[in-house]
Amino acid sequence: MPNLPLTLAVIYESLRLRDLVMTLPKLVAEDTIIPYTTWDDNGIISHHEKHIKAGSHLIIDSPACSRNPFAYSNPESFNPMRWITKTDMGVNNFSGFSMGVRACIGKRMAEIEMITVIGVMCKEFRMSHVPQEGEGWGGMVERVLKGSEELNLRPPKFRLKLEKR
Ligand code: HEM
Repeated sequence: MPNLPLTLAVIYESLRLRDLVMTLPKLVAEDTIIPYTTWDDNGIISHHEKHIKAGSHLIIDSPACSRNPFAYSNPESFNPMRWITKTDMGVNNFSGFSMGVRACIGKRMAEIEMITVIGVMCKEFRMSHVPQEGEGWGGMVERVLKGSEELNLRPPKFRLKLEKR
């Protein structure tokens, strides 16, 4: 979708902060060394390696990868422009569709569907959230953003007001 790069950037930034497929279970095929970087309570950064034996069961925590401060600048902030400028290392290693030979086969289809639905909705309607009785902006944002974690992350039900443009 070369004509709607910002729409795709908004979609990716939303997926980054609200990873739909939360855990990627894997069976390790061969002995592997995984390098990783961490920090202690004093902010001291250190580099390590984890040796993993063939046959081990491994779970990749995709939401944690998506908020890795070594991969994304200000990882908690919603910044679609990071997908346009591509200065964050993480945008080239996004795990939301997994990676490698078992990566999501429907990624392109999902991208096209999401761009089409969001693009048409934004073109045709002015959209606004409907707060619950006595609810302030902050409370409404918290409620709407709270997903339920089952097999994958699902958004809660909320009301949206649509006005034809
Ligand atoms: C936003 C939408 C989607 C997201 C975030 C997503 C994410 C993922 C992820 C993370 C995996 C890897 C799971 C794992 O390794 O355990 C996966 C696999 C897969 N996805 Fe998706 N997916 C999406 C939409 C779709 C759609 C629309 C289709 C089909 C039309 C699809 C078909 C598949 C299939 C068949 C696999 C298994 C691939 C394999 O194991 O070789 N996905 N998806």
